[in-house]
Formats: sequence, C-alpha cells, structure tokens
Amino acid sequence: MNPILTPDAIKFIDLVSPDHPEVLIEMEHLAQERKFPTVGLQAGRALEVITTLSGATTAFEFGSGFGYSAYWIARGLPSGGSIVLTDRDQTELDVAQNFFNQAGLSHKAIFEVGEAREIFDNRSEQFDLILFDHHNSNYLPDFNSVKNKLLPGGVIIADNAMSGLTVDFEGLISFFDSNHSDIDLNDNTLGTANYLLELKKDPVFKTFIVPLGDGLIVSVLT
Ligand SMILES: C[S@@+](CC[C@H](N)C(=O)[O-])C[C@H]1O[C@@H](n2cnc3c(N)ncnc32)[C@H](O)[C@@H]1O
Repeated sequence: MNPILTPDAIKFIDLVSPDHPEVLIEMEHLAQERKFPTVGLQAGRALEVITTLSGATTAFEFGSGFGYSAYWIARGLPSGGSIVLTDRDQTELDVAQNFFNQAGLSHKAIFEVGEAREIFDNRSEQFDLILFDHHNSNYLPDFNSVKNKLLPGGVIIADNAMSGLTVDFEGLISFFDSNHSDIDLNDNTLGTANYLLELKKDPVFKTFIVPLGDGLIVSVLT
C-alpha cells in the first residue's frame, strides 16, 4: 500500500487517469510478483508530466531496474528525445528492453549496464533531466558531480524522500526538527537527510517534495 496518500486519494487519482495500456499492466504485475521497488503508479504519472513540463529532451536515470520509471519518463519526452537507463544488473536491463519494445518506446532508450556514476561520467552529452533511484547514500555525492552536466532549467529528481526500503520518516522529521543533531539514522535515511539538507541550502536549485509514491524530491536549476 502507498504509505503517504490515503487509499481514497490513490483510488481517486487512478479513477481520473487514463486506462492502463497492456505493457503497464504487465510491468505492474511483475513489480508485485517480485516485490520490486518501482516508483509506483502515481509517482510514475508525475514523472511523465514533470518531464513534459520541463521540456526535457535528454534524460539519465541512476538505477533503472526493469525500466518502470524510465517508461514514464520516456512517455514524457518528445519523439526525438532519449533516456539513458542504467543498472548494475544486465538481466534487469534485458527485461526493460523488452518492455520498451512492447511499448513502442525503444527509439528513445539507451541501455547501459554498470555503475551508474561511471556511465554518467563517460558520456559526453549534457542532460535536461536526471532521476536518482539507486541508493540514497549516493544521492548527495552523485548530485555534486552531475549538476555540472545539467542543462539550464534542468531537473534532478530523487525517489524515496519519505519512505521506501529502510527510509525512516519519523527519523527524518526528528533530524530536521532538532537542527540535525544527535539523531541516529540508518544509512538510507541519512542519505535522504543529507541530500535534502544540501538542497535546502543550495542557492541555485529550487526544490519541492511531491508526496506521491515514496516521495519525489524535485529540484530545478534556476
Ligand atoms: C529501486 S530500484 C530502481 C527502480 C526503478 N527506478 C523503477 O522505478 O522501476 C534500484 C535499482 O538500482 C540498481 N542500482 C543500485 N545501485 C546502483 C549503482 N550504483 N549503479 C547502477 N545501478 C544501481 C539496482 O540494481 C536496482 O535495480
């Protein structure tokens, strides 16, 4: 169950959204069957709209799994746009490739296996939109190194602001409420906390949390 929205809110959002294409139904089934932590349906829809609103044409994802979140971003890209999907696990990317073929989106996708940060560093182009969904403790170091390759007006989105994996939401509230002192947080939660703390102070990024799915941290380069 979605930990942030009420069941009625989720039901309402789904009722007013377009019907699911067959490929999405299959991805949803696979995620449920494998208990795989995708961004989920409501955050997925938000990713599509944010991508379109931002006017992004080039996107890069840190940790794509079987391509669920990338599918939504690809839908939001224009026909000449592209997204680089990355994962350490080749089998995940093989499944992603099949879904992208089925969805008719493979012309927008580049699949790269390995460490996301290494792949990013080895690419020469700049990006309009970046999604972090690999490990929260990597968010801050990766943010510091990727922001220089973000195009003006570009967007960085990170999942798991408020829940997911071992993110401890109460711990996060205590961390910010107590001025960040003496709070014992697990690795994942500390990753989110340090990332949010940096963004709170950052003079050039405007950040907002979209409380859908596990909570998306959306930052725009101003
Ligand atoms: C939470 S899942 C991604 C889910 C995906 N974004 C979605 O919504 O369907 C995290 C994925 O990141 C991959 N991963 C974790 N750390 C990584 C890294 N440093 N480089 C590349 N892939 C990584 C894992 O193998 C896993 O498949």
